[in-house]
Amino acid sequence: MDVKILTAQDIHQHYAEEICHLMEVSAHERKTGIAKRSPDYIRAKMATGNAIIALDGEHLVGFCYIETWSHGKYVANSGLIVAPAYRKIGMATSIKKAVFNLARNKYPEAKVFGITTSLAVMKINTELGYKPVTFSELTQDQAFWDGCKSCPNFEILERNERKLCLCTGMLAPSKVEMEKDLSHLILATNEKQ
Ligand SMILES: CC(C)(COP(=O)(O)OP(=O)(O)OC[C@H]1O[C@@H](n2cnc3c(N)ncnc32)[C@H](O)[C@@H]1OP(=O)(O)O)[C@@H](O)C(=O)NCCC(=O)NCCS
Repeated sequence: MDVKILTAQDIHQHYAEEICHLMEVSAHERKTGIAKRSPDYIRAKMATGNAIIALDGEHLVGFCYIETWSHGKYVANSGLIVAPAYRKIGMATSIKKAVFNLARNKYPEAKVFGITTSLAVMKINTELGYKPVTFSELTQDQAFWDGCKSCPNFEILERNERKLCLCTGMLAPSKVEMEKDLSHLILATNEKQ
């Protein structure tokens, strides 16, 4: 096995159908909701360098993409998928790390967030520094929440006035915020000495 974690490009567009198929099969198996993504949507993410793809030679290993919301105040990571044959060996962890770095380097002013029902994703996010938050802390951009319309749990989200649903919201500070916190910490440590 020789897995490469790459920023997806146009040359990867032929994987879009397989990615969507994997997403649908896994949502069906888990019996949890998921916002449906079309191959065209996935291809657009690849074309703009807003996605990470993992490949073992020509074999698709996994995928995840990012998208900005609230005029660049937030960047979401979504659509994480690892092919069944490559699960439980740290692939999602590597893909999420790469996606987190992509989000922060490309959009340093944006807070990074995701919504998930997956324990594995919660674990990975926690390691990366995300904190669980209520949906009120996430983007209020209607277009983001419209993405949940294709999820079978959308009615729950609506019933709760978009304040909560079965997904947990997880938020990490922007790169700029983190660097500010770090410099304050260094300053405070230096003052103590
Ligand atoms: C969820 C998913 C992405 C995990 O991928 P993976 O490559 O197997 O994950 P990793 O090997 O990097 O594991 C990360 C952590 O999650 C744990 N984990 C992995 N799968 C798990 C599962 N099904 N249930 C609970 N924990 C799980 C691992 O043990 C590891 O924890 P550790 O760091 O404490 O050892 C993969 O199972 C998948 O594609 N599922 C279907 C799609 C999906 O659920 N996507 C997320 C939507 S938000």
